Amino acid sequence: MNWPGLIANYKEFLPVTEETPALTLQEGNTPLVHLSNLSNQLGIELYAKIEGANPTGSFKDRGMVMAVAKAVEAGSRSIICASTGNTSAAAAAYAAKAGIRAIIVIPKGKVALGKLAQAMMYGAEIVEIEGNFDEALNMVRKVSETSAVTLVNSVNPYRLEGQKTAALEVCDQLGSAPDILAIPVGNAGNISAYWKGFKEYNEVKQTGLPKMFGFEAEGAAAIVQGKPITEPETVATAIRIGNPASWNLAVAAREESGGIIESVTDSEILEAFKLLAKTEGIFAEPASCASIAGVLQQIQSGSIPSGSKVVAVLTGNGLKDPQTAISEINIETVSLPNDEKTVIEYIEGVVTA
Ligand code: F0G
Repeated sequence: MNWPGLIANYKEFLPVTEETPALTLQEGNTPLVHLSNLSNQLGIELYAKIEGANPTGSFKDRGMVMAVAKAVEAGSRSIICASTGNTSAAAAAYAAKAGIRAIIVIPKGKVALGKLAQAMMYGAEIVEIEGNFDEALNMVRKVSETSAVTLVNSVNPYRLEGQKTAALEVCDQLGSAPDILAIPVGNAGNISAYWKGFKEYNEVKQTGLPKMFGFEAEGAAAIVQGKPITEPETVATAIRIGNPASWNLAVAAREESGGIIESVTDSEILEAFKLLAKTEGIFAEPASCASIAGVLQQIQSGSIPSGSKVVAVLTGNGLKDPQTAISEINIETVSLPNDEKTVIEYIEGVVTA
């Protein structure tokens, strides 16, 4: 069967009406990959939800298809968002598909190259500010109150509605909820959306509930520290956020599920980033790897018992941020002249070594 996209597939779980346009780029239905090598090494059953397989390469497509469809349904002709990159890529793509305008406000110099290229290609109007995500979000929230433009950041409730579908997929793919759901936390929308999805699916299908394990980057760990961070900093630019909009919902997800929200350092994130690619053949962007870094950390600290069934959400594709990858991997490429004999001799030497 050709996958119909989220709105068509999950309409009984989503706030759709007869008037909601059938918008889709065939988002959702992403793979849940068993990380067999890491599972063996770690003594747990570890799976990854590959959200980088969505049409624009991140989980944001799930929320954006709903937010843009509902904006169009309400008669809006323009959308606006602040973004660390992925939200803006998704907003721009779905606006292009729906034939409406997208205006995006981003922190100058802090958006990974692939994400910027996407927003440009999809035809968004791009505003860069000499400030961070939190400041950009305050600005777009204000302007959406006074202008004819729909805010599509995750404070728009349709965003979380769309994003909750990932939890439904995880339950269907595993047969039930996992013991633990490990997830990066930035603006805290996604952890809140997954928890909503797990609860709603459990009510209808008795799929059970996981413990929610959220991970912030140490330099942007507002929830962990219990106070907003005015100048957040981390290599994981996607989660370089100092005052998460869904803070209260994320804390509720942690409390209700008996989970944790902890922080991981940039070096833990980068170690997990490299380990995942080399051990499992999965290239996820640095922020995504906060989930894997968190799993490694919590196995060490004893809060993930051996044998646990753990799903780590890999929120975005590694190709979004090639610069961080290239600067982190110190592999010398071998440069040879265009001479058959030299090349063959070199490779024979490597193979027999
Ligand atoms: N992972 C990636 C790859 C992200 O792009 C984001 C958020 C997160 C994790 C955190 O999710 O905010 O729901 O807690 N990116 C937003 C953006 C902020 O603008 O693209 P969250």
